[in-house]
Amino acid sequence: MSAPLRLRRLPFGARLSLTCLMLVTLGGYAASGLYMQDHHQNRDGTPGLTKTDIEGVYHGVTVEAPLGRLIEVEHPKEKGLDPMNEFDRAQLTEWLKATDQIVENWQNIDFGDGSGSPEEIVTMSCGKCHGPGVSKDDWVAPLLGSWDDYKPMAFQNEVSPTDEAILLASTHAHSLALGTITLLICALMYATRMPGIIKGLLTVLASAGLLFDLGAWWLARDNPAFIDLIIAGGAAHAGAMGLMMLLVILDAWLPGGRGGAHEASG
Ligand code: HEC
Repeated sequence: MSAPLRLRRLPFGARLSLTCLMLVTLGGYAASGLYMQDHHQNRDGTPGLTKTDIEGVYHGVTVEAPLGRLIEVEHPKEKGLDPMNEFDRAQLTEWLKATDQIVENWQNIDFGDGSGSPEEIVTMSCGKCHGPGVSKDDWVAPLLGSWDDYKPMAFQNEVSPTDEAILLASTHAHSLALGTITLLICALMYATRMPGIIKGLLTVLASAGLLFDLGAWWLARDNPAFIDLIIAGGAAHAGAMGLMMLLVILDAWLPGGRGGAHEASG
């Protein structure tokens, strides 16, 4: 039987080519990470890639109205300023709760406790700092004057999942490309001098992670519980792949003899 392939016994040129290709593929993974960050991070209206963003892509989410979120955190308390007054908060929360009457109640002076319409309340409370009449030195962005300014903040946002045809195209591209590259890297991993348990662990993490990630893309459309599987599978796959590529490069260059009696059996 011929000796198994050992990376460190490959000729110089082969090890150099292998190293270049590992670096290209590592770069590819880094680029897809950045792409994902860039492309998906805005689904929930907050910066950074969050679980809600991912849920928006694969399942769809209802993102709370920005105004509701500000009221919840007692804005501008989070900026280190005096919080909104309790009474106004309660009134505005009540107003936003009836999502189908938000427009109707905007100028309704009989709304709530009759202490003013939502328009009057926000004009008094938000207008202190954001209103058009505030002196230039005290004014803070954004400008909040009319309904047109408040309207985009008042409604929750329904984020629909990615169109099925696009998901299908993406699955087709990802499964063929990633399936192939994963197979190759796993095979290279078995040509390193790593202990069998590490080889087994990393190759299973990369392969099962990929299967669960891509499978969960589809399962998550009906059941948002699978979003966690997308994240866990994706992380396991990418982490194991990155580690294996680094180990392949290391193994190709680390000294350890290019012959040796014990190696042919390993
Ligand atoms: C006491 C002053 C003050 C009041 C009152 C106030 N804000 Fe602000 N608001 C701020 C400050 C300060 C910022 C931060 C501005 C910046 O970073 O440039 C801010 C930022 C914002 C932003 C930008 C997003 C963010 O979170 O930074 C929005 C939207 C906003 N306020 C809406 C409101 C609404 C709606 C109300 C009334 C319910 C309100 N603000 C009441 C001071 C105030």
